[in-house]
Amino acid sequence: MVQAHIRKAVDADIQAISTLAMSSFGTSEGPEIVQLIGDLLVDVTARPVLSLVAIVDGRVVGHVLFSTVRLKPPGQDVSAALLAPLAVHPECQSQGIGSQLVAAGIEQLSDAGVDLVFVLGHPAYYPRFGFFEAGIKGFEAPYPIPEKNAAAWMMRELHPGVIGSTRGQVTCADALADPKYWRE
Ligand SMILES: CC(C)(COP(=O)(O)OP(=O)(O)OC[C@H]1O[C@@H](n2cnc3c(N)ncnc32)[C@H](O)[C@@H]1OP(=O)(O)O)[C@@H](O)C(=O)NCCC(=O)NCCS
Repeated sequence: MVQAHIRKAVDADIQAISTLAMSSFGTSEGPEIVQLIGDLLVDVTARPVLSLVAIVDGRVVGHVLFSTVRLKPPGQDVSAALLAPLAVHPECQSQGIGSQLVAAGIEQLSDAGVDLVFVLGHPAYYPRFGFFEAGIKGFEAPYPIPEKNAAAWMMRELHPGVIGSTRGQVTCADALADPKYWRE
C-alpha cells in the first residue's frame, strides 16, 4: 500500500494525465481515452466534473474523472455522476492508488450533494467501494449493455433513500454519447 497525495487536477496536469492514460490503457485504447478526457474537460454537458490526480514522489501516477449525468424521464430530483475513466500507471498498480482515487472522489461527490454514482467497469473491482449492479435497481445505461455483461453496469448510492424512490435511464454527457464507450 502506497499513500498517494490526491488532489484536484489543474490545467497544467493535462499532459501528465494523457501520458498516464496512454501507459495505463495501452496503444489500442489509450488514444481514445486521452481524447475522451480532453473532450469531457471542455464539455458543458458534463459539468460539474471532478477530475482528481494521485501524486507519488511528485509524479502523476493516477487519475479519475467523474462527469455529471442525468436521469430520464427528467424532473427527478436526483444528482448523479459517472466514473470514467480511471487509470493508474502500470508500475504503480495493485498498491491501493486506484482505491484512494475512487474513495476520495466518492467522498467529495457526497459532500457536494451528489446522490448516485454510476460506472461501467470491472464487476470484480468496484463492489469493494460499495458499487452493485444498477440494472436490477431500475437504472438503465445510456446505451444497452448486453445481458452477459449486465454486472459491469454498476451504481453506488451516496445518500440513502434515492434507490427505490426513483429509476430511469441515465443520460451521459455529450462527450460520452457514443456507443464505442459503452462496450464492456
Ligand atoms: C483498474 C485500475 C485503475 C486499478 O488501480 P490499482 O491502483 O491497481 O487498484 P488498487 O491497488 O486500488 O486495487 C488493486 C486490486 O484491484 C484488482 N484489480 C485491478 N484491476 C482489475 C480489473 N481489471 N478487474 C478486476 N480487479 C482488478 C487487483 O487484482 C487488486 O485486487 P486485490 O486487492 O484483491 O489484490 C488499474 O489496474 C488500471 O489503471 N488498469 C488499466 C486501466 C483500466 O482498466 N481502468 C479501469 C477502467 S473501468
